[in-house]
Amino acid sequence: PVIRCKEQRELSEGNLLVVTVATKETDGFRRFMRSARHFNYTIKVLGRGEPWKGGDYMTTPGGGQKVRLLKAGLQEMKEEDKVILFIDSYDVVFASGPKELLKKFQQTRHKVVFSAETLIWPDRHLEDKHPHFREGKRFLGSGGFIGYVPNLKEMVADWTGEDNDSDQLFFTKIYINPEKRKSINITLDNRCRMFQNLHGSLDEVVLKFEDGQVRARNVLYDTLPVVVHGNGPTKLQINYLSNYIPTVWTFETGCSGCLEDLRPLSGLKESEYPLVVIGIFIQQPTPFVSVFFESLLKLEYPKNRLKLFIYNQEQHHEVEVSSFLKDHEKAYQGVKVIGPEENMDRVASRNLGLDMCRQDKDCEYFFSMDIEVVLKNKDTLKILIEQNEPIIAPMITREGRLWTNFWGALSADGYYARSEDYVDIVQGRRVGVWNVPYLTKVYLVKASLLHEELSSNDLFSSGTLDLDMAFCHNARNKGVFMYVTNMHTFGRMLSTENYQMSHLHNDLWQIFENPKDWEERYIHENYTKIMRDKLIETPCPDVYWFPLFSDIGCDHIVQEMENFGQWSGGRNTDTRIQGGYENVPTIDIHMTQINYEKEWQKLLLDYIAPITETMYPGYYTKCISYLNFVVRYKPDEQPLLTPHHDASTFTINVALNSKEIDYQGGGCRFIRYNCSVEAPRKGWALMHPGRLTHYHEGLRTTAGTRYIAVSFVDP
Ligand code: UGA
Repeated sequence: PVIRCKEQRELSEGNLLVVTVATKETDGFRRFMRSARHFNYTIKVLGRGEPWKGGDYMTTPGGGQKVRLLKAGLQEMKEEDKVILFIDSYDVVFASGPKELLKKFQQTRHKVVFSAETLIWPDRHLEDKHPHFREGKRFLGSGGFIGYVPNLKEMVADWTGEDNDSDQLFFTKIYINPEKRKSINITLDNRCRMFQNLHGSLDEVVLKFEDGQVRARNVLYDTLPVVVHGNGPTKLQINYLSNYIPTVWTFETGCSGCLEDLRPLSGLKESEYPLVVIGIFIQQPTPFVSVFFESLLKLEYPKNRLKLFIYNQEQHHEVEVSSFLKDHEKAYQGVKVIGPEENMDRVASRNLGLDMCRQDKDCEYFFSMDIEVVLKNKDTLKILIEQNEPIIAPMITREGRLWTNFWGALSADGYYARSEDYVDIVQGRRVGVWNVPYLTKVYLVKASLLHEELSSNDLFSSGTLDLDMAFCHNARNKGVFMYVTNMHTFGRMLSTENYQMSHLHNDLWQIFENPKDWEERYIHENYTKIMRDKLIETPCPDVYWFPLFSDIGCDHIVQEMENFGQWSGGRNTDTRIQGGYENVPTIDIHMTQINYEKEWQKLLLDYIAPITETMYPGYYTKCISYLNFVVRYKPDEQPLLTPHHDASTFTINVALNSKEIDYQGGGCRFIRYNCSVEAPRKGWALMHPGRLTHYHEGLRTTAGTRYIAVSFVDP
């Protein structure tokens, strides 16, 4: 007859109970529970609401409290064939289900199996006492073990330690005692078939993408652990792995984890929207500040559910701030401004901004925005709130670069390190909501944190760290998870380098440093459509007409010239040009006079040359141009220009203001064709050959002031 031993009977899922200690529901605990639910584990949580006296593992051994709670918990359990998995929860995720765990447990043919460690801790003098294995890790880790109830009871029976005594030392001493090891029947999971502790083993672990599911693989032992534990100083690595494991993000399904536990806002009445304090920080001279405020205004969110905290350190930007407030302050529920005259330092301003939300009992979120953020997505705030994370940033990038507002990993000294998935996330090959160690520039913080984990009113300082690093460091230390989402496109961040403040409209000079923003601000909204939609008009033979500058672009150029003010006298002698003699003088200011020649040259190359080459096929141009200037026509000054040729192969002539509104009359007549453009359009450019065929004159301006920008290209 076949004799079946008791332990050979296959354990079923009903035999297993997962027991963990969690005095608080941290972000890590919630993550643990999500992965447990995914595999249908039955969980019992001990110690809820108790104060934690178990110590801080980062610095000193501790964890005795877990043993006390386990010992008490076991007393109530009577079933002898019950198997308990006792496991940490703040830094643990399940990569597989109970069935596999029990099978692997039974295959060990022991009654209690501990997770194994590469490093010995906390007492390295005990090293020699540890039995050797042919292969695998020799030391015991107390963050996870599995065993039958009676054996576990026997194991903890002698516990009389303090809550801050080391649980690991206690279990280690039992394990290295040969009699106890034998009687309780303990072994280690030395090849990480069940438990993967990450401390000391980071090089052994890689993500393994399976069909619609992700696991960790131990490449040293070629095993697929069921439980992954970011013990000790490996909290960021478990955060990284758990962006994927078990099914948070997979190649097949994308980020299914991103769709869980949302906080939908749709259907809410305006008055029901959560109150948000938006902190706006102007810390350095920055281009396009008025554009920032325009996108703030466009944010889709009831303004009476928003309060603003504006910190401005720059005298120079007071104009933009006060002009925004003058027109819109009343729409918001409240506004607090800290101006440059208050001399508040940056760190203090950040702390104060957060505090404005903390002190407001209605405030549910703090939304922090640095002035160099270019938010293109009007729904950003709503999207972030709906994602329902403790701290979350929308991913924004620096145009054309791998720079973003988050780091995927930290280097050993706490600075930037590139995570394996960083480039895939930045370039959108992996789309999701990612737990990351550092974010900056723009992020949303749940106010509930400000009353708990982040209740300190000095979160932005920490030793020598800069303020964002200090903030993230503090959040990490409190176990608060920070996420960045690239589920949508949100916007960009500006470069604040090389920002000169010597002009009236300094943004005009940004064509090199922030070309995209420059284009959006200054180039006509239809410019890019002109080729596609054949918007280029031909008002006279070989004269082409197309939109070039935006209204604001025209206004800024004119205002810049008027601000400079040194209009030429309209005489033939002109010291500004080579030879000193001008045949057809106008009242004008050259681009060189306002230091705009390099920028103008770039404008010609980027925005004019492609059109020239399309309209005059076979002609190639590098847009050499020594004469670029703005002309002013006025009835009582210089109202017109007599017929002439230009010293150019082709000429660009852009109308900078509007007929009927700013002036009467004006226009350009091509004599040979007896053809005139009499109704110039603001922002539109005329392009025509300079010599021989296109003998032309500037028609009389009869009232007001007319401005045009002119370039003689390829002289
Ligand atoms: C791990 C092991 O769990 C410890 O038994 C071991 O002593 C330690 O490594 C070590 O090797 O020195 P670790 O993962 O670093 O500890 O620490 P945490 O995860 O911060 O804490 C352990 C567990 O205690 C948590 O996962 C959680 O289950 C519980 N805990 C901790 C609370 O319930 N409340 C707290 O405030 C802190």
